[in-house]
Amino acid sequence: MTTAAPIIEISEVSKTYDGERPALAGLDLQVRAGEALAVLGPSGSGKSTLLNLVAGLDRPTAGRVTVDGVRVDALTESGLARYRRERIGMVFQFFNLLDDLTVEDNVLLPAQLTGISRATARRRAAELLDRLGIGHRAGARPGRLSGGERQRVAVARALMNRPALLLADEPTGALDSAAAADVRELLRSLTTEGQTLVLVTHDTALAAACATRTIELVDGRIARDVTAVLR
Ligand SMILES: Nc1ncnc2c1ncn2[C@@H]1O[C@H](COP(=O)(O)OP(=O)(O)OP(=O)(O)O)[C@@H](O)[C@H]1O
Ligand SMILES: [Mg+2]
Repeated sequence: MTTAAPIIEISEVSKTYDGERPALAGLDLQVRAGEALAVLGPSGSGKSTLLNLVAGLDRPTAGRVTVDGVRVDALTESGLARYRRERIGMVFQFFNLLDDLTVEDNVLLPAQLTGISRATARRRAAELLDRLGIGHRAGARPGRLSGGERQRVAVARALMNRPALLLADEPTGALDSAAAADVRELLRSLTTEGQTLVLVTHDTALAAACATRTIELVDGRIARDVTAVLR
């Protein structure tokens, strides 16, 4: 069996904000391509901090973060912008959509600056929106959509540039149970198709549906690391 290099390699990573107790305390973690990792743990245990370091939204105080062969902690600001655009898709609890733009234009945003033609990008956006069951809302403003529909738009935007890695921080945290079930099904189908996913959540049903592996953070350390036998 050949072992491919991990898509995420985190070595001795610590993160301390302003002399507080460390949010992450010497973390080591490897994630392989195709894994769907759920990150669980109590509030304040460092879950979002970990995700933000992988996303290049923040830098570690110490240690190395390598994603898809890129030393993320060492990138310049413009390198980080490019890294996020080309390799990462991110979904947040509160959608982070721009309400001045249509649904379609929100999904097209990541394609700007990538060099693909507008026509190609629009085809891809239409495919994604259709696939996620919201093609008929392409011309609407996100503010007119339900929470579940908004999160589908956010997932479409995250997938626009075919990211090596999809990151999600509490993607069902602001949804009612029916919409949460939709998003759960969507993420589950993406992961069964091989999309690598790191998912931060308190939603154990979501973790159980999507994850091939679960880690639990406590006080900025990995307290548990379980690979699912079945899902
Ligand atoms: N920008 C920041 N400035 C200062 N402290 C921060 C910052 N972000 C996080 N922290 C602190 O770092 C620790 C870890 O926070 P983090 O947001 O990673 O926790 P979390 O596990 O995501 O919690 P939750 O489940 O509530 O979202 C907490 O003590 C938090 O107060
Ligand atoms: Mg958090």
